[in-house]
Amino acid sequence: MAANDSIFLHAHEAPGQHSVQRCDVCGQDVPELDASPACPQCGGLLAIIHRAPLDSMGAPVDAAALKHAFSQHCCARPAGHASGVWRFERLVMPTAGAAITSHPEGNTPLMARARVSAWAGCDGLLLKHEGYNPTGSFKDRGMTAGTTQAVRTHATAVACASTGNTSASLASYAAQAGIPGLVFVPAGKVALGKMAQTLAYGATTLLVRGDFDECLRLVQEASRELGIYLLNSINPWRVEGQKTIVLEVLQQLGWDVPDFIVLPAGNLGNTAAFGKALREAHALGLIAKLPRLVSVQAAGAAPFARAFREGFRERHRVQAETIATAIRIGDPASWDRAVRAIRDTNGLVLSVTDDEIIDAKVQIDAAGVGCEPASAASVAGVKQLVRDGIINAGDRVVAVLTGHVLKDPGMLVDLHQERRDFAQANRPVEIEASVAAVAEVIASRSGARA
Ligand code: F0G
Repeated sequence: MAANDSIFLHAHEAPGQHSVQRCDVCGQDVPELDASPACPQCGGLLAIIHRAPLDSMGAPVDAAALKHAFSQHCCARPAGHASGVWRFERLVMPTAGAAITSHPEGNTPLMARARVSAWAGCDGLLLKHEGYNPTGSFKDRGMTAGTTQAVRTHATAVACASTGNTSASLASYAAQAGIPGLVFVPAGKVALGKMAQTLAYGATTLLVRGDFDECLRLVQEASRELGIYLLNSINPWRVEGQKTIVLEVLQQLGWDVPDFIVLPAGNLGNTAAFGKALREAHALGLIAKLPRLVSVQAAGAAPFARAFREGFRERHRVQAETIATAIRIGDPASWDRAVRAIRDTNGLVLSVTDDEIIDAKVQIDAAGVGCEPASAASVAGVKQLVRDGIINAGDRVVAVLTGHVLKDPGMLVDLHQERRDFAQANRPVEIEASVAAVAEVIASRSGARA
């Protein structure tokens, strides 16, 4: 059993503090405003343990009052609390106060799309589209919390390793906070939209000759030696922010728990955050039961899926390769936390092939919704579980779309314009500037449909 199995602080622990950072491995507590990237005693990952919300008399707040507070918050104090993250401030960073650095973010839609449901074979499928965040991915939820902590600890610079979305998000939030940002990305392996954002927002961008796993090792070392505040998802405050994806889904569903929540998985930070959010929501009585969490990896980057099939007996590392560059990760950092999340929720871990990811993405795109390749892994995973009889057609399933369709325009142009063997390509047609040419194209298209 891990040292850090607490859900909330006990009454006698950490007197006078709302939250502590506690080591997953040795259980050591580190003060809330300590900027260490890991446990100073043993190097284990730190997690935030909050005190369960209390009322003005110091008594625990009951679930109904908490739900009411969450629903009031968004309108009550527009400065920070219009955010879908800071609405849940009490469960994210209760002492953030004026340090909050917010776009705002969150408040993303939960969509039902008949075309996607029919393709996956699940009528009750809902898409939680995190691509509607300010920089186009779910990373903004963790980054608003992480950057706020950087402000609180007077960080002189912030850094991350990234497959592209974290770097775009860090670049944007660091610019807003006025703190220099430094990002480490695998050279030649970052999708065009993400690279463009990172450069535009002004982060110092290091194209590392190596993969994401090497970038992560390097940034950890650099942050330790150069005293730069680390903003990868092993940063415990990033996890706190990302919990709000789940809290917001539950709130949107009237706290009526779905049967499954399905998400793409790479470094496993989000899987860990979802597990923590569900444990806390359950302990507070916000929900009566837990949904089953399903993490979906790309087949070429699936060490966690392999370990799941073996009963999590050992940790695996692979040389990762997949078209879904966001999750091209072979040595996920939040491994143990993700194991706990899957075990606690009677969850599942799957892998889907690049072809299955593309098939799912084509459906999501053609429904007018769109998402980046990695995001489509969640819907491909739903289809696989329906086929295997684990998800029933009538089950209520939330699939998280983690990033916006414009994150990876290069892949789309290649698919629709360049690749000759792609049957579903929507090829653009070059024409002379005449109505006759337009009419010809229309005629040929309607002929093709007839
Ligand atoms: N989907 C997208 C679009 C991502 O960018 C990522 C991770 C994931 C899913 C997987 O989440 O790592 O928490 O399991 N992107 C990171 C990055 C690694 O650097 O942007 P995870």
